Amino acid sequence: MLNPRLETLLDSPFRRIDRLLEPIKPPSGLKPVILTVGEPQHPQPDLLAKVLRENEHDYGTYPPIPGTPEFRRAVADWLTRRYALPAGMIEPDRHIVPVSGTREGLFLLAPAVVPETKGGGKPLVLMPNPFYQAYIGAAVAAGAEPHYVAARAETDFLPDLASIGPANLARAALAYVCTPTNPQSTVGDLDWLKRVILLAREHDFVVAIDECYAEIYDRAPPPGGLEACAQLGGSMKNVIVFHSLSKRSSVPGLRSGFAAGDPEVIARYTRLRFYSVAGMPMPVFAASTALWREESHVEANRAIYRRKFDMAQRAIGNRFGFRRPAGGFYLWLDVGDGERVAKELWGKAAIKVLPGGYMARDVPGEVNPGKQYIRIALVADERATQEAMQRLAEAL
Ligand SMILES: Cc1ncc(COP(=O)(O)O)c(C=O)c1O
Repeated sequence: MLNPRLETLLDSPFRRIDRLLEPIKPPSGLKPVILTVGEPQHPQPDLLAKVLRENEHDYGTYPPIPGTPEFRRAVADWLTRRYALPAGMIEPDRHIVPVSGTREGLFLLAPAVVPETKGGGKPLVLMPNPFYQAYIGAAVAAGAEPHYVAARAETDFLPDLASIGPANLARAALAYVCTPTNPQSTVGDLDWLKRVILLAREHDFVVAIDECYAEIYDRAPPPGGLEACAQLGGSMKNVIVFHSLSKRSSVPGLRSGFAAGDPEVIARYTRLRFYSVAGMPMPVFAASTALWREESHVEANRAIYRRKFDMAQRAIGNRFGFRRPAGGFYLWLDVGDGERVAKELWGKAAIKVLPGGYMARDVPGEVNPGKQYIRIALVADERATQEAMQRLAEAL
């Protein structure tokens, strides 16, 4: 007997794009550039290999699920510095737990917080539409109903959670939101974050704020959920933020991140994690501790993205609703028909991009909010990006 709930999960966007492009041959003289997956291809920080090597004797230990004290301290210090939080607001032992990448962390939060029923019905898990795949996987696996909140140009590509109405809000058990956003690379400001948090408290749901792109930004550092909590008086009730080294330090294969926030949620979530996750190897804890304490490699990483944003801006200009990413590293271009243009770019220019509709769901009575877009992940190195932007500008 298979779990029928999983029928809700479609094939991954990356399988779908491979299937779509399979019959199309890219031009033989052009080297393909893959801009579908958000996997940074920038140099890894030197610090990483050094610390991993120094700690390689430690693979003989099962990793502690709550992390090492040094890791939690480094994370608490980083959060406090990054978001100018009051000293002592983040207590390393109560407010932080490591995750093996935010994908795993986001997923496992749902079974820790979604009850059997809420507001007299099946619990809802709210998520923006389009959204990151782990959110729907989590909702479905936890036995909740995914509820999509459109994130279109009219709302600055942010979901307006209050728009779903009181009956749905009463059933909401968990909401996933993301800032900077994937796929649109916009940033929710402090007012938006505060509204989301106050709504979660009013209707008693947990809000998971996915901040894995927080350290990739063009000008101003994006504000964060815990910063909003501090401004609302300091309580982190109902709020969990997620951070990752995958984008910040260009190490998506390290599988290192953390969750932080409401101590009651962290306690319950950690208890579930003791029963499920493998944990981060000890050398990875040591390397992650060092990386959260070091900023110069992150600044260098941001500088590479800024140069690539310049290349994209020069190549695309004002066409297709181009916006320079305020945070994150995706271009979200309004090309009219994402699938058609993805095929064209592969066939004419050997560039692989994601049709925006693959990241969104069809909601009855609404236009799929991703359909008219393509998502371009600016993750290749600078030379490949320059080449890709030129080819893209010519092909479009
Ligand atoms: C919005 C969003 N959240 C979470 C993740 C997961 O990142 P990781 O598990 O590497 O921390 C990604 C990865 O691309 C993402 O785009």
